[in-house]
Amino acid sequence: MKIAPSILSGDFAYFGEAVKQAEQGGADYIHVDVMDGHFVPNITIGPSTVSAIKKYTSLPLDVHLMITNPDQYIDRFIDAGADILTIHVEAPNHLHRSLRMIKDRNILSGIALNPATPLCTIDHILPDIDLLLIMTVNPGFGGQSFIPQMIEKISLAKAKIEDATNDIILQVDGGIHKGNIGQMAKLGVDVCVAGSAVYDSGDVKQAIDMLKYNSR
Ligand code: DX5
Ligand code: ZN
Repeated sequence: MKIAPSILSGDFAYFGEAVKQAEQGGADYIHVDVMDGHFVPNITIGPSTVSAIKKYTSLPLDVHLMITNPDQYIDRFIDAGADILTIHVEAPNHLHRSLRMIKDRNILSGIALNPATPLCTIDHILPDIDLLLIMTVNPGFGGQSFIPQMIEKISLAKAKIEDATNDIILQVDGGIHKGNIGQMAKLGVDVCVAGSAVYDSGDVKQAIDMLKYNSR
């Protein structure tokens, strides 16, 4: 199981420290939650913060755009150092075009689905995605509880990407902790995003070790 700590749960005044601790603690990606106060009821960070964070880590930056107009910002987040750029299926008017904008810049493209969004919304864009993110909370805030109905959705998502002709990484985000990560592993999830489970404990390495141990 790969772990992508979400710096949303880190100290906003010390992002450099938060990413260094995650890298030293054995994280596989750094998950960056971008929120615009419109698509979700919270405002977080923009491209200039992403480029500042980039200097503090050699891990891939996994940038999760929870914004209404992704097309307008895709190039700027890639210029800032995003290695994976995930947009929401609910956001752009022309999803295929948005995904091609990402793929044309030769980084990995991700697509995220809110909890209530059906999986069939990605049926016709599978060849254009490298990562499928199943949201297991309603996006906007860290520290929320995993929505149990998402278990079935994750298992259907796994089956769908196994049928695809291209390789697609399966990621889950929201409410992941040491008590449910084992189940995520059994469902075939490749990457778990974890915010509060990593940063709230005070010992980032120990928290990542625990998540990895419990996913075996
Ligand atoms: C939710 C964000 C998540 C979230 C994860 O809007 O996309 O990345 O902050 O935090 P936890 O692990 O605390 O649910
Ligand atoms: Zn996220």
